[in-house]
Amino acid sequence: TTVEWEAESYDMGGHDTYMHKEIVEQVEAVDRVLRGRIDDRFATVRLGGLNLEPGEARRVRRIKILGCGTSYHAGQIGAQLIEELARIPADAEPASEFRYRDPVVDPDTLYVAVSQSGETYDVLAAVQELKRKGARVLGVVNVVGSAIAREADGGVYVHAGPEVCVVSTKCFTNTVVAFALLALHLGRIRDLSVSDGRRIIEGLRRLPGQIDEILKAESEIKALAKDFATARSMLFIGRVRGYPVAREASLKLKEVSYIHAEAYPASELKHGPLALVEPSMPTVAIVPDDELLEKNRAALEEIKARSGRILAVAHQEQEKADHTIVVPKNEHELDPILMGIPLQLFAYHTALALGRDIDKPRNLAKSVTVE
Ligand code: G6P
Repeated sequence: TTVEWEAESYDMGGHDTYMHKEIVEQVEAVDRVLRGRIDDRFATVRLGGLNLEPGEARRVRRIKILGCGTSYHAGQIGAQLIEELARIPADAEPASEFRYRDPVVDPDTLYVAVSQSGETYDVLAAVQELKRKGARVLGVVNVVGSAIAREADGGVYVHAGPEVCVVSTKCFTNTVVAFALLALHLGRIRDLSVSDGRRIIEGLRRLPGQIDEILKAESEIKALAKDFATARSMLFIGRVRGYPVAREASLKLKEVSYIHAEAYPASELKHGPLALVEPSMPTVAIVPDDELLEKNRAALEEIKARSGRILAVAHQEQEKADHTIVVPKNEHELDPILMGIPLQLFAYHTALALGRDIDKPRNLAKSVTVE
C-alpha cells in the first residue's frame, strides 16, 4: 500500500504538472527552511527541535545518515557538508541495507533518518531498530508529525511544503539546505570559525536569488532536453561534491523519462564505463569551479576523444562540452544545492518531450509504506 497526497486539494497554480510547480517553488521553499533560524550574532543557526545539547553534540564521534531514494541522495550531500563544516566523520546509506546487515550500533554515533514523507517503511523500521538498541536518532523530515518525526529524538524540519509529484524536487533541495544548517550548527559548536560560519550564512542567504536565476535558463534547458530525449541511455558524472548531484540527476531522469541513466564518479570512468562512450551515449557532467576543476576537465577530454556528447553543468563554459549550463557560484560547500536544479528541469523537459506521465511515473509511488 502507498500513501497518496490528496492531489486535488493542492492548486497547480497555472503549471501543467506538480513537478514543474514544485521546481519553480524552490525559491520560496529555500527561503522558508532558512527563516527564523539564522543567528548572526554567533554566526550559527538555531534549530529549535534538535534536542541535542552542545555537550552532547561535542561527544558525537560519527554521524550515520539513513534514507531511501532521493532522500538518501540528499543524505549523501548532507554527510559531505557535515564532514566539511563540522569535521565529524559522516556517511549515508540506504536505510534498507543498513537494517539487514546487522549494523554495529555505536553509542558515540549520531543517527539521522531522512524522509520527505516521514512514513517510508524501511526508514521507519531502521529508526525503530536503532531506538531499541538505545541509539540517538534525529529526523530530517518534511511532513510535520509523521511517523519518523514522532519516533525520532529530535530533528530538523525541512519546510518544503506539500510535495505532490511522485518524484522529489523541492524537498530534495530543502533537505540538503536543512543538512547545511545542521552541519553549520554542529560546526560552530566544534571548530568552525566565526568567519567561516559567516561565510556559510551569507552563502545560504544568496541561494533563493541564485535559484531564481537558474530557473531563467528554462527555455535553454528545454531545447537541450528535447535534443537529448532520443538517447537510450545517459551517463552522469561528478566528483566528490558533484557525485551525489550526478546520482540524483540520474535518478530523476530515470524516474520521469524512463531513459536509462547511470551515475559514476568521474574518476571511475576509466575503470569501466568509458567502454560505453560513443556518439549515441551522452554524458552529463557536473563541473564546479572547485579544487577538482582540472581533474573534471580531464574527464571531459577523455569522453570527447571517444566522440561522446557532453552536457556540462558548470560555473563557466566548458570548452570540451557540447553545451554548458552555467550556474551561479556560491561557497564551494553549497555548490551541490544549486548544481542539481538545472538537471531537475532537464529531467522534466526530457519527460515532457517523450510524453510521459510526469507526476505519476509508472510503477512508482510517492511514499512506500511497506517493505
Ligand atoms: C519513493 C519515492 C521517492 C522517494 C522515496 C523516499 O520511492 O518515489 O521519490 O525519494 O520513496 O521517500 P521519503 O518520503 O522517505 O523521502
